[in-house]
Amino acid sequence: MILTLQSVSRSFGAVTVADDVSFSVGQNEAVGIIGPNGAGKTSLFNLISGDLAPSSGSILFAGRDVTGLGARRRSHLGIARTYQVPLPFTGLTVLENVLVGAVFSAGAGDMTPEALADDVLRRCGLDHRRDLLAGSLSLLDRKRLELARALATRPKVILLDEIAGGLTEAECHDLVALIRQIHATGTVVIWIEHIVHALLSVVQRLIVLDRGKLVADGEPHAVMHSPQVREIYLGMEPDAEDLA
Ligand SMILES: Nc1ncnc2c1ncn2[C@@H]1O[C@H](COP(=O)(O)OP(=O)(O)OP(=O)(O)O)[C@@H](O)[C@H]1O
Ligand SMILES: [Mg+2]
Repeated sequence: MILTLQSVSRSFGAVTVADDVSFSVGQNEAVGIIGPNGAGKTSLFNLISGDLAPSSGSILFAGRDVTGLGARRRSHLGIARTYQVPLPFTGLTVLENVLVGAVFSAGAGDMTPEALADDVLRRCGLDHRRDLLAGSLSLLDRKRLELARALATRPKVILLDEIAGGLTEAECHDLVALIRQIHATGTVVIWIEHIVHALLSVVQRLIVLDRGKLVADGEPHAVMHSPQVREIYLGMEPDAEDLA
C-alpha cells in the first residue's frame, strides 16, 4: 500500500470533518471521492497533504508514518495536490510557476528543474503558453497549470480537488485524457469530483464521504447503486442521472 489512513479524526468546533476514517490505497490505483458539499472531502485532502493535522489517528505513506510531518516534507516524499480554488502565482509566467514546483521536487533524479518543467509543460499541453502570465490563462489552462505544478514535484500520489468543475464538455474530455495519462504513467490518482461521469471514466474505485464519515468504498457502480449512497444523493446532485 502506498497510502493508509488509520482511524483519522478531526473536528472544527461542532463540525466533524473526519470521523474515524480508515482506508488504504495501493500502488497502481485511481480512486474517486464523492460526497455532498461540506462532507469533508477537501479536509480529507488537507489531512493527507499535511495542511491539516488530525486530532487522532495516523497517516502512513510509502511505508512510513507521516502523521507528524508538515506539508513541505510530505511533498518531498511524493504527495502532491491541486486546490479546489487554483492559486497560481498570477504575476509569474506559466513556466516560472511550474519551475517553483520543479525546484522543490525531491525526485527529479538526473533531470534539471528546467528539463523537468519542460517535460511537464509538454505533457500538460501548456508548452505554447509557457511565457504567458499565469493570471492571463483561460479556465482550462489554469486547471492544466494546477496539474503541471503538482506534477513538477514528481509525485507518487496526486490529489485532485474538483479539477473538472466549470469546464465545457469538450474541455472536460481533454482534462480526463490527461488525468488518465498521468495515472497510466505510474502516478496514483485520488480525485474528488462532482462531475461523476468524468470521474467514472478514470477511477476503478469510489469512496463516499458524508459528514466526515466514510460511508462506502468499492467498485464504482456497486457503490453508486448502494442504498446509503442513493439516499445521500437523492434529488440533490446535478449529476443525479449518473446514478440511474
Ligand atoms: N479551517 C476550517 N475551519 C472551520 N471549519 C472548516 C474549516 N475547513 C472546513 N471547515 C468546515 O468543515 C466542513 C467540511 O468542509 P470541506 O471543505 O472539507 O468539505 P467538502 O466536502 O470539500 O465540500 P465541497 O464539496 O463544498 O468542496 C464544512 O462545513 C466547512 O465549513
Ligand atoms: Mg471541497
